[in-house]
Amino acid sequence: MMGKTCFETGDLCGTIELLSSKAEVISAELMKEFERLKAESPEDIFNFSNGYVNGFGDLAEDGRPCPAAPIKYVLYSRKHIEKFMQYIPFFIEHFGKKAFEIGVGPAYLLTLLKNVLNMDMHGIDIRLKDEIVYRRIREELCVDKFVFEHKVTSGIDIPIPDSTELLISFWTVFNRDWELEDHKWFIEHCRQKLVGDKELIFRFNNEGFLDKTEIRNYYKSIAIFPLKTDANFCIIRL
Ligand SMILES: C[S@@+](CC[C@H](N)C(=O)[O-])C[C@H]1O[C@@H](n2cnc3c(N)ncnc32)[C@H](O)[C@@H]1O
Repeated sequence: MMGKTCFETGDLCGTIELLSSKAEVISAELMKEFERLKAESPEDIFNFSNGYVNGFGDLAEDGRPCPAAPIKYVLYSRKHIEKFMQYIPFFIEHFGKKAFEIGVGPAYLLTLLKNVLNMDMHGIDIRLKDEIVYRRIREELCVDKFVFEHKVTSGIDIPIPDSTELLISFWTVFNRDWELEDHKWFIEHCRQKLVGDKELIFRFNNEGFLDKTEIRNYYKSIAIFPLKTDANFCIIRL
């Protein structure tokens, strides 16, 4: 990787190596900060935005960062990068197209699609500056300029850029508390905003999807679920 910038890779293996090497740097930085906070300001370790505790404010039992906390994206980066490999084939037909991602997080998928499939990627997330782990990864990957702050909220216009063909969201959180009517609004909103291929590619989290029969049945009626191994992954052609 010596001498390459983030935008010169272009190949899958090279991009995986790029993501992993950046994650290693940030992992070392955040663990150093963890030790500093422990010594100087221990209460700050429990601030979720710093990335060390889970949604309930817990560390691991041994006092180290919780394996489910946002820092997992750099501590166990290979797992969180390679989890996308099974989905990449479904993007190949969209080579070079313009796509928009909801809940970019660490931007591993955004960077893979940009570098490997030459896709024109933009996306949104919440609390861009405050969520340290996500922000640091996006900065190191030089993709922060493609990510805007917007909280997806049912009934409120989503700032999907003009001429976007594809909308994607992986391990979704925005829909956690949504009812069927919210999903119907969302699909209709995407139908109005997208152009060309007009495709949605989702990998839902269990919460708000697997636990809501009515919503699962709705997607079964409008989507295909192409992976036998992943009942939360679906594609919708509008
Ligand atoms: C579980 S993470 C998944 C990150 C990334 N998509 C991935 O698969 O690695 C969920 C992401 O959604 C973002 N998010 C949560 N609620 C959101 C909302 N209402 N609108 C936009 N993004 C949201 C979070 O900040 C976080 O980056």
